[in-house]
Amino acid sequence: MIALCPDVARLGDVVEVGYDDIGSGTPVVFLHGFPHNRALWAPQVQALFPFARCVTPDLRGFGESPARPPYDMDRYADDVASLLDAIGIGRAVIAGLSMGGYVAFAFWRRHRARVRALLLADTRAGADGEEGRQRRREMIAAGRAGGSAAIAEQMMPGMVGRRTRERCPSLVASVHAMLAAAPLEGAIGALEAMIARPDSSATLPGIDVPTLVVGGEDDVLTPVAEARAMHAAIHGSRLEVIAGAGHLSNLERPAAFNQVAGEFLLSLDRD
Ligand code: MLT
Repeated sequence: MIALCPDVARLGDVVEVGYDDIGSGTPVVFLHGFPHNRALWAPQVQALFPFARCVTPDLRGFGESPARPPYDMDRYADDVASLLDAIGIGRAVIAGLSMGGYVAFAFWRRHRARVRALLLADTRAGADGEEGRQRRREMIAAGRAGGSAAIAEQMMPGMVGRRTRERCPSLVASVHAMLAAAPLEGAIGALEAMIARPDSSATLPGIDVPTLVVGGEDDVLTPVAEARAMHAAIHGSRLEVIAGAGHLSNLERPAAFNQVAGEFLLSLDRD
C-alpha cells in the first residue's frame, strides 16, 4: 500500500476540494460515484501511479470537500476544471464510475478541449425515469430521517456484485462503511443532482476522443446492457466487461480493472 498525500486546494475565494495527486505521466482524473469518496480509487492509484498522474478529487459535499450548494452535474464538472487549473493540468483523461460518469459527460459538454480520453465505468448515459426519481426522493426522505446510514442501507444491495458478496465480505463491509460515512448534506445534494441530471444519450455520438467503456458482469445498478449501448453509440470506443464483478468493478476485481485501464492509458501514449 503506498502512502497517500492528501491535499486541499482552494478554488477561487470560497470553494475547497479534497484530492490526492500522485504519480507522473498522463494525467488521469478519477471521479467517484454515489455516495463514495476518492478512496474508491485507491487500487487504481496504487497500480497506475508509475505511469499516470492520478488525480482523485472528492466531489463537493463528499470526503474532504465541504458541502456547498448548489449541486448539479455541471457544478461538479466545473469544480474538476477549477482543480485542474489550480494544479496546472491542461488536458486529462477523465475516468468516472457511475455518478462519476454522469459528471464525466457534463465535463465533456463543458470542457471538451481538456479531455484527452474518457473512461466510463459502471455508468449509464440515460436520465432517471419517473420511478427512479421517486426512489431517490424516498432515499432523500430516509436520509433526512435516519442519516447517511439509512441511505447506505438502501444503496448497498446493488452496490457490490453477488459473487463478490460471497467471495469477499471484508470488501462489502468497507464499502458499507464508506457509504454510511458520506456527509448527509452532500449525499442529499447529489441525489437531487441525479434526479435533475439531463439525458446524455445525445452526447455520445459527438465524443471523438479515445473512450474505454467498462462494465461489471454482475452489475445490477448499471447493467452491462448500458455499457454495450454506450459502446455502440461512441464511435471507436472499446468495451471491457469485468467477469465476476458488480457495480464497483474497480474495487471488486481490481487487477482485471487495472489491466484494462492500464492498457488503455498506454495505448494513448502510442497514439
Ligand atoms: C453510483 O454508484 O454512483 C450510483 O449508483 C449512481 C446512481 O444511483 O445512479
